[in-house]
Amino acid sequence: MNKYVIHGGKPLYGKIEISGAKNAAVGIIPAALLVDGVCRIENIPQISDVTLILNILQELGASVRTINRTTVEIDCSHIRNARVSYELGRKIRASYYLIGAMLSRFGWAEVPLPGGCDFGGRPIDQHIKGFLAMGANVEIEGGYVRARALSGKMQGTQVYFDIVSVGATMNIMLAATLAQGLTVIENAAKEPHIVDLANFLNSMGADIMGAGTDVIKVRGVERLTGGTYSIIPDQIEAGTYMAAVAAAGGEVRVCNVIPKHMECITNKLVEMGVSVTEEDDSLIVSRSGPLLRTNVKTMPYPGFPTDMQPQIAAVLCLAKGTSVLTEGVWDNRYRYVDEFRRLGAKIQVDGKIAVIEGVPRLTGAPMRACDLRAGAAMVIAGLAAQGTTEIECIHHIERGYEDIVRKLRGVGADIQVVEVPEEKEQTSAG
Ligand code: EPU
Repeated sequence: MNKYVIHGGKPLYGKIEISGAKNAAVGIIPAALLVDGVCRIENIPQISDVTLILNILQELGASVRTINRTTVEIDCSHIRNARVSYELGRKIRASYYLIGAMLSRFGWAEVPLPGGCDFGGRPIDQHIKGFLAMGANVEIEGGYVRARALSGKMQGTQVYFDIVSVGATMNIMLAATLAQGLTVIENAAKEPHIVDLANFLNSMGADIMGAGTDVIKVRGVERLTGGTYSIIPDQIEAGTYMAAVAAAGGEVRVCNVIPKHMECITNKLVEMGVSVTEEDDSLIVSRSGPLLRTNVKTMPYPGFPTDMQPQIAAVLCLAKGTSVLTEGVWDNRYRYVDEFRRLGAKIQVDGKIAVIEGVPRLTGAPMRACDLRAGAAMVIAGLAAQGTTEIECIHHIERGYEDIVRKLRGVGADIQVVEVPEEKEQTSAG
C-alpha cells in the first residue's frame, strides 16, 4: 500500500483538466445492461470504482473493449445471468444500480447489499419501495438483495420517494426503462448525473422526460439499441481542485467543466474571498488575500453538495472568524475531524453541525484517509499546511480521483506517492 507525502504551504499555478464524473459513470456503466448491442461510452474516469463496476459486468458475461484511456465499448447482449458475485458486488456502493438494470432487462436480480463510504446508516429502503411498487418481490437474504418481477416484467406505476435520493432515483429510472407502461417518479433527485443517465438512456432509445426536475416520467420501451455517449465532467472533482486553490492560494484554470453545475460551489468560494472567473468550459480560480468565514449547509442539488463538505471544511479551517457547517444529507460525515485536529484545526462537532474557528495556519502531520472525500480534504489541508503531511489509506482517494497526484504536481504542488513497507502497515492497522 502507498501513502501521499505532501510538502505544503506553496500556492498552486497552472491548469487542471477535469475527468468524467464518477457518480455518472457508475450509473451509466450498469445502464449498458439494458442495451441490446454495443454502446460506446466516452470520457470515463480512470478510477478504481469504475474498474470494479466494469469487472462486475464482465463477470456477468459482458464483453468490454478498451478503445483508449477514456473510452470503452460494452456489449451486454449475451448476458443471461443476473446474479452478481458477493466478492465484487459488496465492494462498491453503485452495485445497487445493477438491481434496477437487471430487473428491467431480465425480471430478476441477485446483488449483494452494497458497500461504499461509511457515513453512518446507508439504507436502500427507497429503492426497495420503488421496486415493490413496480410489481417486484424483494427479499434480503444471506447478504443479498433478491428481487423478482412477479409478472416476469416490471410494471410502470407512480413512485413517490419519502426522501430525496440520488441512488433510488437512478435505480427506478433504470427499472422503468424496459418496464411495461409509464412510471412517474415524484420527489426525484436533480443532480447533474441524473440528467446524464437520462440522456444516455434516451440516446439509446429510452423515453425519459423531466430528469433534472423533481418529477421524472419514464415510458417503458421494448428495447434499447447501441450508440455512443460521452459522460459529463465531474462536478466534485472540479470543486475539490477549486477548494485546493482556495486553501493553498495561487491561480489555476480548472478546464473541462460545466460552469452551471459548479455554481453552488463557486458562490460559496466567492463569499469566502476567492475569485472565480467563468469561461465557456473552464473556471479561473485565484486567491491571494485572506479567506473570509461563512456558513455552509449541504443539501441535494442545486444546494451545496455533501460530497464537497469535507473539502470546504478544509478551507474554512483557514478562514478568518468562526464558520458553521451543517451536514444536511448524511448522519455521520465528520469522521475526518480528529485527523484535521492533528494539523491544528479548531473544529467542534455536535451531531450534524461543525463549528470551525479559523486559524492563521495549519502545520503538517500524519493523517489517515477514512473515506473518499475526507481523503481529498486531507490532501487540500496538507497542500495548505506548513511542513510535511503524510496521508495513509489513499486507496479511498483513488476510488474517485483520477491521477490526483499528477494533476496536482502539474500546478506546482509538492506531493508524491511513497510506498509503505508491509510490516509498518500491519502494526499501524487499528
Ligand atoms: N436514504 C434513505 N433511504 C434510501 C436511500 C437514501 O434513507 O433508500 C438517505 C441516505 O441515508 C441519505 C440520503 O437519503 O441520508 C441521501 O442518500 P442518496 O441515496 O442520495 O445517496 P447515494 O445514492 O447512496 C450518492 C453518491 C454519494 C453522495 C450521495 C448524495 C453515488 C455512488 N454515491 O449516494 O457520493 O454523497 O449520492 O449526493 O452516486 C461520493 O461520491 O463521495 C459519495 C459518497
